[in-house]
Amino acid sequence: MVPVAGLGTRLLPATRSQPKEMLPVLDKPVVQYVVEELAAAGIERVLFVTGRRKRAIEDHFDVDPELPSLPPGEGVEILYTRQPRPAGLGDAVARGHGFAGDAPVVVAVGDSIIEPGPGDSPGSLVRRLVEAYFSADACAAIAVAAVPDALVSRYGIVVPEAKVIAMRAQSPAFLASTVLEKPDPSETQSRWAVMGRYVLGPSVLQALRHTPADASGEVQLADALRAAIGAGERVVAVPLTAGERRHDIGTAAGYASVFVRYALRDPRFGEELRGQAAVLIADAGG
Ligand code: UTP
Repeated sequence: MVPVAGLGTRLLPATRSQPKEMLPVLDKPVVQYVVEELAAAGIERVLFVTGRRKRAIEDHFDVDPELPSLPPGEGVEILYTRQPRPAGLGDAVARGHGFAGDAPVVVAVGDSIIEPGPGDSPGSLVRRLVEAYFSADACAAIAVAAVPDALVSRYGIVVPEAKVIAMRAQSPAFLASTVLEKPDPSETQSRWAVMGRYVLGPSVLQALRHTPADASGEVQLADALRAAIGAGERVVAVPLTAGERRHDIGTAAGYASVFVRYALRDPRFGEELRGQAAVLIADAGG
């Protein structure tokens, strides 16, 4: 499930009439990276949760006889449902309960690209989440990465259980004692931030449908996960590997940074661009 119904207010005016998830990183929109990642993980059906002003996403994935077909081509069936108003990521995910049925579902936020580490294959993070979900007998598996103190209040934060139990030999996955939504860094010692990829089981989707909106009017995934842990279920966290990166394009700074990163590495023109870097930086006053 790929939620793409948010307003993208932090990227205004770019998002007045177009979805932030359609912004290109080089010559490919962000959602295309997300679908390719899911296909690489073996996913065969993707449900987009869309909203107002998001029609460009449907157009993008349409079959157009005049254009070459998109990777992964016919390997992935793409479906759409709509979130009537942007009432939070939790509410968007709850819209997919019929799609998921009694099975767990992979959730990948549509405004983030996962860049595999040097030793990782594409789709590796989602595969590790699925494996952790089943091997921990969990109701949810969440991708996490450590963030500096100053960024804690911008993320959902997973607090590990006091006694960290190795899920499997060599596995860095750990069980969560709670999940906090954008806490003050003084509220917790944990720096494990949620990284936009999840596996959610039927009990969490069910809980989300009954989770009330918070003070800002949004249904938070963290609230449903906390309720599940409180009811005795397990939530497992899966850290990104050392070289794996989550690129959130939801702010101009995040978008600019991933664009430059991918441009500098592009096999078509990256080398030439790197050759100009000194001039570009000097011209920028640095
Ligand atoms: P964000 O909270 O980063 O997106 O959601 P936003 O609300 O669009 O951003 P701002 O704060 O206004 O700038 C992460 C992902 O979840 C989706 C978004 O589209 C994005 O891909 N989302 C968010 C929904 O589908 N529905 C929502 O109600 C909120």
